[in-house]
Amino acid sequence: RESQRASLLAVNDFALKHFEDNLFNTDEGREVGLSYFRQRGLNEAVINKFHLGYALERSNALYASAMEKGFTEDNLVTAGLCIRTDSNRVYDRFKGRVIYPVFSLSGKIIAFGGRTLKKDVAKYVNSPESVIYVKSNELYGIYQSKSAISKLNKCILVEGYMDVISMHQSGVENVVASSGTSLTEGQIRLIHRFAENVTVIYDGDAAGIKASLRGIDMLLAEGLNIKVLLLPDGHDPDSFAQSRSASELEAYINEHETDFIKFKTDILLKGVENDPMARARAITDIVHSIAVIPNPVSTNLYITECSRMLRIDEGVIRMEVTKQRADIA
Ligand code: UTP
Ligand code: MN
Ligand code: MN
Ligand code: MN
Ligand code: MN
Repeated sequence: RESQRASLLAVNDFALKHFEDNLFNTDEGREVGLSYFRQRGLNEAVINKFHLGYALERSNALYASAMEKGFTEDNLVTAGLCIRTDSNRVYDRFKGRVIYPVFSLSGKIIAFGGRTLKKDVAKYVNSPESVIYVKSNELYGIYQSKSAISKLNKCILVEGYMDVISMHQSGVENVVASSGTSLTEGQIRLIHRFAENVTVIYDGDAAGIKASLRGIDMLLAEGLNIKVLLLPDGHDPDSFAQSRSASELEAYINEHETDFIKFKTDILLKGVENDPMARARAITDIVHSIAVIPNPVSTNLYITECSRMLRIDEGVIRMEVTKQRADIA
């Protein structure tokens, strides 16, 4: 098993070099891949920092060069770099895509994401899970961001690869992505190793809001302090960072990140002011977030805040929190 880990890491290392070499040293890589990254506003420093690459369109480019270096077909298939069809044909999984390598906490290459440049069905293709890649325990960007996260005692959580990269380019370096999947406990514990404060900046669309609301209670249950920032409609952190200067981005985050309780109250109470049933459901939901907070001092502060915001007696909120706590335990 140790030797399988080592051989998967070795073939991923080889693939990383291959993809980076394609990007800078082949005509196709420069004309298609590098110009794509340029068009998205990335500079060479950040392309190198995240070791972005390009997989040639030819269906066995990686396969052929890895085999020549002595890697085996099984190795390539187990690592997910190649796919074996039912008729035993083997081809490169990421062909024709730009490459985002996924680093482990300690800097090992454990997976890749590949983005299509066409109007493809799957925008991103990702490495399958393996002994070196358990997706629910990893965060994109953690290797490049961990020192800033612990220095600032704050982690910004975003959805995607490009969000992490563009924010780094703009000087915001304490940022990781859950990579589109819903947040897991393993990912939250990983964040908690470096910071007590989390700001969630998901995409400013319905899906992003829904995902933020779902993530909040899990983060709170871990004992983290949570803020949320809602971007202007249609923006994600990448497009937003690319449309502002570095100092504007930082100022915007500092001014607009709001405590989870205000975020949740604003979202859930919007449009239900005159609907008592809907209002009651929203309040129960907000109280649930308070009930999962492990620290009783924080819980008390939030009960007061909640009572003030909802204009409901503090005693009533406290009773509801106590009741929901009993249900959770
Ligand atoms: P988004 O759809 O928000 O993509 O998915 P994006 O990051 O903004 O990408 P661009 O700007 O269009 O290039 C957020 C994240 O969800 C994962 C990826 O990690 C992506 O960055 N995802 C999304 C997938 O794994 N597969 C998909 O097909 C789509
Ligand atoms: Mn803690
Ligand atoms: Mn999205
Ligand atoms: Mn997005
Ligand atoms: Mn985007």
